[in-house]
Amino acid sequence: MEKLIDNVKKSFEKKFGRKPLLLASPGRINLIGEHTDYNEGFVLPGATDRAVIFAVAPRDDRRCRFYSLDFDQDYATDLDHLHKSEWRWPDYLQGVLDQFLKGGYAIRGLDLAFGGNVPIGGGMSSSAAVEGGLAFAVNHLFGLNLDLLSLALLAQRAENEFVGLRCGIMDMYANLHGQPGKVMKIDCRHLVHEYYPFDRSELRVIISDTGVRRELASSEYNVRRRQCEEGVSLLRRYYPEIKSLRDVSLQMLEEHRAEFDPVVWKRCAYVVGENERVDLACQDLVRSDFISFGERMKESHRGLRDEYEVSSPELNLLVNSALKIPGVLGSRMMGAGFGGCTISLVEAGAVEEFRSRVSADYRRETGREPAIHVVRIEAGTRILEG
Ligand code: GLA
Repeated sequence: MEKLIDNVKKSFEKKFGRKPLLLASPGRINLIGEHTDYNEGFVLPGATDRAVIFAVAPRDDRRCRFYSLDFDQDYATDLDHLHKSEWRWPDYLQGVLDQFLKGGYAIRGLDLAFGGNVPIGGGMSSSAAVEGGLAFAVNHLFGLNLDLLSLALLAQRAENEFVGLRCGIMDMYANLHGQPGKVMKIDCRHLVHEYYPFDRSELRVIISDTGVRRELASSEYNVRRRQCEEGVSLLRRYYPEIKSLRDVSLQMLEEHRAEFDPVVWKRCAYVVGENERVDLACQDLVRSDFISFGERMKESHRGLRDEYEVSSPELNLLVNSALKIPGVLGSRMMGAGFGGCTISLVEAGAVEEFRSRVSADYRRETGREPAIHVVRIEAGTRILEG
């Protein structure tokens, strides 16, 4: 991390010839609670030690100059001409600035360099790390005094409106509210959270990356959202007080099963079950019952694979391979699905076997090497120097 920070800082100084503000903006993991955020349900994410590093300084005019170390590309624009670029990365930055302008905040242009070690498009929310990080930086540089929740909502709108993906609030929320050694149970309806300790020395969190990238926009993500909405409108005929799947019980679903399209029913049953699992998993954490916690991760994966149908052969392969290893307590796909990564809860002593066996299985079946990252739960977006 020190080397990365130094690289970003030096690149900035070389390009722009002055001293920047330095920030770290982490990628997130999610222990359990997948595809529940946009149904006003519960999630259990944490920020990690994988981060995007920003070097940024305000300008006196409205020009914006960006440099991406990861792509080695420059992009220049100004606040009065923000528009979608031919590349994707400038859009995450422009989207955030666009939201500050729409909110009527007095901001000026910026010089900015950034680079990171969050796998790009790999399911750890590299895009939310870029958006949350810039929102935090702009708020600080121009003294806007917005709180973290407002910044998370602003970053989400940037993704929804400028980038064009209807993502939920989890990624930006976790990026901004992370604390070392703690995960947070977010209530995605009321936008409040509770921290739970997650810093056991005998356990590790392992992220295994399939290397398969699938753009959310072109994926089934929006289809799933619509199916959930369809389930809600059907049940609302009988229970007018229902606003989202958060308000639905398995019993309600069972009672009206015959009226449902069977696919829509499965989608809804998964979400209702997953919300309950998040609750139970938090109780496991309070009791330090990681065996039970791991079982819930496995159930979550089965639901995502069979009911919500957002897993993929590569993700299933990684999960199955992990679960054969003694000392792996739980494993499941993480994030939107189809590609990206899995998350596994592993006893410290089993990490080496995990690396070698999961890599070997994946290589044998797909001919590719999976990237395997042992991650720590760290603080959310923060200033490093400046
Ligand atoms: C993506 C979205 C999140 C969430 C997850 C699935 O990461 O950005 O808002 O919906 O998928 O849990």
